[in-house]
Amino acid sequence: MKEEFRPLVKAACEARLNSYSPYSTFRVGAALLARSGAIFQGTNVENASIGLSICAERVAVCSAVAAGETGFTAIAICADGAEPTLPCGACRQFLHEFGPDLTVLVAGDLGPQGPVREFSLGDLIPHAFETFVDNLAPDLGDKGGMS
Ligand code: THU
Repeated sequence: MKEEFRPLVKAACEARLNSYSPYSTFRVGAALLARSGAIFQGTNVENASIGLSICAERVAVCSAVAAGETGFTAIAICADGAEPTLPCGACRQFLHEFGPDLTVLVAGDLGPQGPVREFSLGDLIPHAFETFVDNLAPDLGDKGGMS
């Protein structure tokens, strides 16, 4: 892992400690690095209606977009367990919306002190759904909203 990513991995691990996961008891944290340099954290939030649960990665993306950011360079994910956990398929597609060049760092619960693997998002989701590719969002001038 490049030294520059250490704070991002630590931010993901920090977010994991806020996980609301009473059903699976599997805690996941994410930290998304925007081109501006800002970091947006997310954690998994589960629900008694199990299917409504949301993953840490998507919470981080939603937090960033709500703050006006749509350009991202890297995401770190830190989950329970010694070995790194890779993002689920839904999160891969959700992240892909903002570009396939995203660096994806995955760490176990030792964070930067333990094994950290690095991928490019495009390698994790080849042949992503991109039927509406013209709407892909990395540099949307108007952020896709109404003015
Ligand atoms: N989870 C994540 O937060 N991210 C993933 O990429 C995979 C799974 C969460 C969802 C659920 O709260 C728990 O892990 C068990 O699936």
